[in-house]
Amino acid sequence: MVNGVKRVLVFDSGVGGLSVLDAIAASGLALELDYVADNAWLPYGLKSDADLRARVPALLHSIVQQWRPDLVVVACNTASTIALDAARAALTVPVVGVVPPIKPAAALTRTGVIGLLATPATVRRAYTNDLITQFAADKRVVRFGSSALVDIAERKLRGEAVDSAILAAEMRGLFGAPGGNEIDVVALACTHFPLIADELANTAQRACVWLDSGEAIARRVGNLLIAEKGAARARHAGFTDGTVAYALGRAFNARGFSKIAAIGPTPAFDVAPLGVNVSH
Ligand code: DGL
Repeated sequence: MVNGVKRVLVFDSGVGGLSVLDAIAASGLALELDYVADNAWLPYGLKSDADLRARVPALLHSIVQQWRPDLVVVACNTASTIALDAARAALTVPVVGVVPPIKPAAALTRTGVIGLLATPATVRRAYTNDLITQFAADKRVVRFGSSALVDIAERKLRGEAVDSAILAAEMRGLFGAPGGNEIDVVALACTHFPLIADELANTAQRACVWLDSGEAIARRVGNLLIAEKGAARARHAGFTDGTVAYALGRAFNARGFSKIAAIGPTPAFDVAPLGVNVSH
């Protein structure tokens, strides 16, 4: 913490947490923002629950020791729905997780049919089932798990073209499922998906409301930290696979990150500055 400015560490498997970071940056608080992408392990949506429960708290614990944030945001539904309690137990700073926006989706739907778009792991989690039972028991929830959309978002932020055939196939998977032709609200329960929200909406078979959790997370962060009004400032971005840092430079540079770091392997997860010029 410098000059009383609170520091927030935003964590995801890849670039998805940038959708949450953008919402925090837009909330008008003078915060310092650090970012960690565990991109050596991407995609989390295809990893086992046990592996994520072991890795995520250990990685966060090490980064918190090194960067000393005041608060950690697990900006990843796949990690939050399985490892949030373990992350909280491993850390002494507050931890905010992101959960599928089932509750607001249930409040908004007029047809009574909600689309749940998430990773293959999140759609089948007990945590997700509990949310549906609690907030959408009288609705129909059409679930679709996609890792291909995570990959599309990663590629987009590396400056690659979005593959419209894959996008269309994934949208058919959601809207072509039983009940899918009545979906009027889609809960984006993976932080990568708001980064391709326009592409999703343009490809979808129906006009829908697309809901994400970014603003809710930003409000929660604001409630937990006493922060001055002002502009947020991005600081360090660390990657467990530093080889893609150059390709991602534009996306991170656009958000004001100047210090790019490589994070070493388990168990130390040592942070080392990367000599990457991200201002191309
Ligand atoms: N961004 C992550 C989420 O919110 C998942 C991406 C992945 O599968 O790694 O679920």
